[in-house]
Amino acid sequence: MKQHTPQHHLPALVARVIAAASRAKPADAVLRETLRTAGGLTAAESREISRAVFAYYRWLGWLDRKLAVAEQVERALELARRFADAPERFSEGELLARAVPAWAVVELNVAPDWAAVIQSEPVLWLRARRGQGGKLAKKLGDGAIHAQAAAAETGEFTLPDALIYEGEEDLFRKKEFQAGEFEIQDIASQAVGLLCDPKPGETWWDACAGEGGKTLHLSDLMQNKGQIWASDRAEWRLKKLKLRAGRANCFNYRAVLWDGGERLPMRTKFDGVLVDAPCSGTGTWQRNPHARWTTTPEDVRELAAVQERLLANVAPAVKPGGRLIYSVCTLARSETSAVAKAFSKSHPEFAPAPLASPFLPSASPSPQLWLWPQDSGGNGMFVAVWRRL
Ligand SMILES: C[S@@+](CC[C@H](N)C(=O)[O-])C[C@H]1O[C@@H](n2cnc3c(N)ncnc32)[C@H](O)[C@@H]1O
Repeated sequence: MKQHTPQHHLPALVARVIAAASRAKPADAVLRETLRTAGGLTAAESREISRAVFAYYRWLGWLDRKLAVAEQVERALELARRFADAPERFSEGELLARAVPAWAVVELNVAPDWAAVIQSEPVLWLRARRGQGGKLAKKLGDGAIHAQAAAAETGEFTLPDALIYEGEEDLFRKKEFQAGEFEIQDIASQAVGLLCDPKPGETWWDACAGEGGKTLHLSDLMQNKGQIWASDRAEWRLKKLKLRAGRANCFNYRAVLWDGGERLPMRTKFDGVLVDAPCSGTGTWQRNPHARWTTTPEDVRELAAVQERLLANVAPAVKPGGRLIYSVCTLARSETSAVAKAFSKSHPEFAPAPLASPFLPSASPSPQLWLWPQDSGGNGMFVAVWRRL
């Protein structure tokens, strides 16, 4: 039988997470571990603890650090409530000055409403199998919203198979999840898969495949036909990819370790190569507010250099006529547009290929797309595409 944790222990658990979180141990990882080991927490209590921890980091720029952590958390929750009720009371200047570190305002070409969006709670996005968004929303029932149906009412644009989940059930236990009918995947990441636009029968390389979020999407778009090489330098991530692929009935992939160096793990030439590169993650600051205070401009510079190297190393594997896609969940200029510009300069055999934003279809197609949270409703991402001449 579940042991019940008294309500008054919840603030202590919140304070414990905050005390243990650091640059080396991000708050979301500490939180997961704390919830797992605390014992006896109900789902509602876990949600309450998570909400308090994230509110603390989201509103940290407003807090008096001399106060006890519990008082700061109370104040952060109060600010979150006030912001949800009347966002217009917070000026853009105030938000930019307090919501993110000063270096970010210089590095990120911040759009006016970005700071307001990252102060609100993020949406949980699901990706249904190709063409199944509406059906899946009906099957999941209460709390599942087919984004396209909702957007049609307001005249906005979104992706066909994206769902918002506002329900309270444990999604990992749903039979539809066990049957591979959906993945939990941010909508901007879903956009990257669609922008790759792989065709059934083609050969693709997902060079930084990680746990396979985009590999699975590419496979679904290819109707499981053709082949995807999925590589990463972290073996444990590829192990997770294999588990997820089994559940999603994805068979047309081959997982391989690759350290990102010049020596490629295959001789194949590809119709498409996706480099979903390691990055500073500034685009995830709504979902992951602790990272606002642990990421540094040095991280941005170092990761930009890694991204440049990865692009240069995969380039020879793209077939003439094939496409190279570079995506990152950051909006920092040194990583995104500067890396794309450097690649174009050093690789004249690759021509930038224009893309239309799925969220702003009336904007002119561009070879560099900034997917801002205020347009997509998800993480901020940057995507650049080239075609090999
Ligand atoms: C943004 S994550 C990929 C996320 C994944 N594509 C998805 O959609 O789930 C970046 C990945 O790059 C991998 N990585 C980091 N440095 C690398 C390197 N030098 N060479 C190859 N992979 C690297 C990391 O292990 C991580 O899995």
